[in-house]
Amino acid sequence: MKITVVGAGAVGATCADNIARAQICDELVLLDIKEGIAEGKAMDMMQTATLFGYDSRITGSTNDYSKTSGSAVAVITSGIPRKPGMTREELIGINAGIVKTVTQNILQYSPDAIIVVISNPMDTMTYLALKSSGLPKNRIIGMGGILDSSRFKYYLSKAIGCTSTDLQGVVIGGHGDTTMIPMARLATYQGVPVANYLTAEVLKKVVADTMVGGATLTGLLGTSAWYAPGAAGAALVEAIVRDEKKHFPCCVYLEGEYGHSDICIGVPVIIGRDGWEKIIDYKLTAEEKTVFDKSAGAVRSMNEVLSTLAV
Ligand code: LAC
Repeated sequence: MKITVVGAGAVGATCADNIARAQICDELVLLDIKEGIAEGKAMDMMQTATLFGYDSRITGSTNDYSKTSGSAVAVITSGIPRKPGMTREELIGINAGIVKTVTQNILQYSPDAIIVVISNPMDTMTYLALKSSGLPKNRIIGMGGILDSSRFKYYLSKAIGCTSTDLQGVVIGGHGDTTMIPMARLATYQGVPVANYLTAEVLKKVVADTMVGGATLTGLLGTSAWYAPGAAGAALVEAIVRDEKKHFPCCVYLEGEYGHSDICIGVPVIIGRDGWEKIIDYKLTAEEKTVFDKSAGAVRSMNEVLSTLAV
C-alpha cells in the first residue's frame, strides 16, 4: 500500500509523520515543488523510524509525480497558508491553480487514488478537485470537519473540565470562520448532552471559539496551524486505509442531501476503503437548517469565484 502526501510544508509533513507512525502503509511519498524540501523532511522522518518503531518507507520527491505512481490515497496540502488577519477564502486566487494541477498530476500516475483535500479554502478546493477531475464523488474528501470537530471537543473539554476523549462533538457546514456549524445540540459528555453541564452562555462561547479556532492559532503562530490539521488528515487516511467505516464530518459532494446539490460542504459521512460511503442524516431542526443553508450559500459564493479565475 502506497500513500502520497503532496506539499511538504508544516501541515503536509505533520500529516506524513502521523501516517508513518500509524503503520498503515509500506510506502509513503512526500512531494513538494521546492527543491530538496520533501527529500530532506522524508529523510529526517526516516531517522525517527527506529525511535518510533515503524517500518514504512518514506521517500521525498521534488515535483516528480512518477514516484507517487500507484498510490491508494493522495493527500493534497499544497498552496499558501493563512497569515494573521487573513481568511481562508482569501487564498483562493493562488491555491485554485495549484490544487487543480496537483490533482491532475496525481491522477496521471494513480488513477485509482482516493483524494483527500486539505488546502484552503477547503470546501471550494474540494469542489474544484472534483469538477476538474471528473472522479466519482466518493473518491474526493475534504478534511476540514474532522479538524474543526477536534477543536470543538478541545474547547468543550476546557469548559466542562474533562478530558476531550470523553466527548462526542461534530462540526458540519463550511470550513470557514463564519460558515462552520458546531452541533451543540448533539454534543455529549459520555452520552449526556453537554447542555447539562454548561450554561447556554458558556456553550455559546465554546461554539464561537471553535469557529475561529484556526484564526486564533494563526494569530499566535503567524501562519496556519499544523499539528491538528496534519493529525486530522492522517486520521482520515487511516480510516480509509483500514476500512474503518468511521463516522466523520467531511466535505463531500451533495446531490440533494441536507437540501443542497452541486456543492462540496461538511456533512457527517461514513469513511471506508472506497472513500466516503454514505451520508448520515442528522435531521437538523428548522433553526439548524437555516444556519446550514446560510453556510452553503457562503460556500457557493466562493465556488462562483472559481469561474472568474484562469484555472
Ligand atoms: C486551520 C487551517 C488548516 O483551520 O484551515 O488551521
